[in-house]
Amino acid sequence: MIPAGTPLTSPLGLGTDGLVFGCDYNPEQWDKQVWHDDVRLMREAGVNLVAINVFGWSHIEPRRGDFHFDDLDEIIALLAANGIGVNLGTGTSSPPPWLTTLHPEILPQVGDGTTRWPGGRQAWCPSSPMFREHALALAEATALRYGQNAAVKLWHVSNELGCHNALCYCDVSAAAFRGWLERRYVSIEALNEAWGTAFWSQHYAEWAEILPPRDTLSFINPSQQLDFFRFSSDELLDYYRAEAEVIRAVSAIPVTTNFMVTAHIKTQDYWSWAPEMDVVANDHYLDHRLGVPHRELSFSADATRGLAGGRPWLLMEHSTSAVNWQPQNHAKAPGEMMRNSLTHVARGADGVCFFQWRASLRGTEKFHSALLPHSGTDSRVWREVVELGSLMHRLGELAGSVVRSDIALVFSWEAWWATDQDAHPSSELRYLEQVHLAYEGLLAIGATVDIVAPGADLSGYRLVVVPCLYLVSDADAQVITDFVAGGGHAVISFFSGIVDEHDSVRPGSYPGAFRDVAGISTEEFYPLDRAETIRLSGGATAGLWSELLHLRGAEATARYVDGPLTGMPAVTRNEYGTGVARYLATMLDPASLAEELARAASEAGASSLAPVADGIEIVRRSGTEHDYVFVINHTDAETPHPFSGHDLVSEADIAPGGTVAPGGVQIIRQTKEAS
Ligand code: GLA
Repeated sequence: MIPAGTPLTSPLGLGTDGLVFGCDYNPEQWDKQVWHDDVRLMREAGVNLVAINVFGWSHIEPRRGDFHFDDLDEIIALLAANGIGVNLGTGTSSPPPWLTTLHPEILPQVGDGTTRWPGGRQAWCPSSPMFREHALALAEATALRYGQNAAVKLWHVSNELGCHNALCYCDVSAAAFRGWLERRYVSIEALNEAWGTAFWSQHYAEWAEILPPRDTLSFINPSQQLDFFRFSSDELLDYYRAEAEVIRAVSAIPVTTNFMVTAHIKTQDYWSWAPEMDVVANDHYLDHRLGVPHRELSFSADATRGLAGGRPWLLMEHSTSAVNWQPQNHAKAPGEMMRNSLTHVARGADGVCFFQWRASLRGTEKFHSALLPHSGTDSRVWREVVELGSLMHRLGELAGSVVRSDIALVFSWEAWWATDQDAHPSSELRYLEQVHLAYEGLLAIGATVDIVAPGADLSGYRLVVVPCLYLVSDADAQVITDFVAGGGHAVISFFSGIVDEHDSVRPGSYPGAFRDVAGISTEEFYPLDRAETIRLSGGATAGLWSELLHLRGAEATARYVDGPLTGMPAVTRNEYGTGVARYLATMLDPASLAEELARAASEAGASSLAPVADGIEIVRRSGTEHDYVFVINHTDAETPHPFSGHDLVSEADIAPGGTVAPGGVQIIRQTKEAS
C-alpha cells in the first residue's frame, strides 16, 4: 500500500509530461513512404511513445555478426523529429533463421521430448547459453548505438518473456534445472525429503538422475513439477537480468519488459520479477473465454499496481478492437476501447499503449486490430483512437496520482501452480477462478482492492481476503495470523493453508496453517459436482466444495441445510486476538459471497468502498491537490451516482444527483478532502 504522504513524483520516469499514449510499431513490415504517413497520423492521434524493434533481429542482423542499423537510425530520427518518444526493443525476442540453422540446439523441447521448430516466434530455450550469447551480443550492439539517444525513453527487453517458451524440457534445461536444485537444496537428501521421493520409488542417489518433469505414464511428482515452475520463472528472470545488465552498462535509460498478468499465462512469478523493473509494464487483452472479460481486466490492472508497489505503471499493450488468437475474436463495441483504457488508468496506469500501430497485411497477426485498421482512417476505430489520444493528453494532471485501499487480496503464482495440479480432491477447483470470484465479490460491493503477495506487509489494511491459498509457507501464513491477532479482519476460503512451500500437507486437521486463526478444524473434504448446488441456512446457495468442519472456538454463521453435510458449519467467524477471521468452507453463490465480504468489510471498518449500482465501477485516484473519481458504466443504461465535480472527459461540471451515460466514463475531479 502507498502510505498517505508519499511524495508524488514524476510518474514513470520516462521524461514525458502527463500520461503516455502509445503503441507497438513494426516499420520493417512497411515501405519507407508509409513511415512518413504513419508518423503524421501518429501525431494526429496524439501518440507520444512508440515501441519499435521488438521483433527486429533478422532485420538488424540478417547474417551472423552483420549488423545493419540504418533503418532503425532512420525511424528513430523520424519519430524524434516529430516529438515522439521511443520504447526501444532489444530485438531479441525471436531468433533469426540463421541462428536456429547454425545452432538447432537452442530450439525448445516440450514435455514429450519433441522439438518446437522455427516458423512461429520465441523458439528458444531459456537456458540455452548459445542463444544467450547471440542475444546479448545484439542487445549490447543496440545499447551501444542508442544508449545515449535522447529520443529513447525506455528499453524494452525481449518481449513477453515466457509467453510461449517458459517451460523447456530439453537436456540443456535439464542440466540447468539440476544446477538450480543444487543451489536450492544443497544436499540430495534435502531434495528427496522436500519432493517426498520415498513415494513410488523415486528416491534420487545423485543429482545427475534428476530430470525436468517430462511427460510420464501416470501422475508426476507434484513437488518436482512445482520446483520446475519456480526454476522456469527464475531462468527467464535471470535472462532478463542479463540483458538489463548489458544495457545498464552503457545506458541510463530505464529498462523494463512487458508482463502478462492474465488468465491464460501462469508461468512467471511476477512478484519476484517486479523489483527488477525500472518501470512495471503489463500487457492485457480481453479474454472472451471468460464470463465477464472486463472484470478480469480490472483484476489484472490492480495486480499490476500491486506489482508496482502501488506506484504508477504502464499498460504496454492492449487492443483497439479484436485480437486474432481466441476461438472467436470479438470486435469491441463503440466506446469499449475507451472504457478499457480508462479502467487501466483508473487502477493506476500512467499510460496506455496498444499492439499495434498499423494492421499488418501479412503474417499470423493480419486480423489483429490496430490503431490504424485495414480500413484506414475512415473507420470507427480510428475516430475513437483520435478521441482517446486527445483525452489522454487532457488527463495529464493525473500522472503520479495513486490509488489507495485498505482492503488487500492475497494472490500467489506459486499457489496457482500448486493448486491446479492433478490428483487433488477436485479437478474442478481452479485457483484463478476462485481468486477472480473473490475479487468480483469485492467489485460488486464497490471495494477498491490492492492485490498483494503472500507475506506482504498488511499494516495499513483493515481487511485481507485470502481465496484458496492452498500453498503457503509458515512465515507467510503467520503474517495473516498476526494481522488478525493485531485487530485485522480476514476472509479465508476453502482449501487454504493445506501445504507448505514443498507441497507437503501440514499434519493434523485442515486448514493447516489457518486452523488456529480460523478457530476450526476440518476432517475431510466433500467436493461437489459442477452441476450440484447445496443450500445454506440464511438462504445462500453454494457449490463445488464442502468440508466436514468442526468448530474449535469459531461460531457457525451458516450451516448446510441439505447435501452430504446437512447441519454442519459452512461459514464461520472467529474472534482471534483483537481481530476476526471468517472462513468459507464452500463456494458461495456470487451474491452471497458479496454479502459476506460486505459484512467483513463493514465490521473491519474498511473505507475504500463506494456505493455502486450493478455494472458500475468506481475507483478513486488521489493526487496532491485533487482526487479523481472514475465512474465507469459497463451497462447500457444511464445510471445515477452520488459524485459531483468537474468531469475531465466531457469537460462539464457534474452536479449532485448526476448520471453516467450508457457505456460511458466520467473522471470527476474533486478538491482533496483535508486528511
Ligand atoms: C502479445 C505480443 C504482441 C502481439 C500481441 C497480440 O501481446 O506481445 O507481439 O502478438 O500479443 O495480441
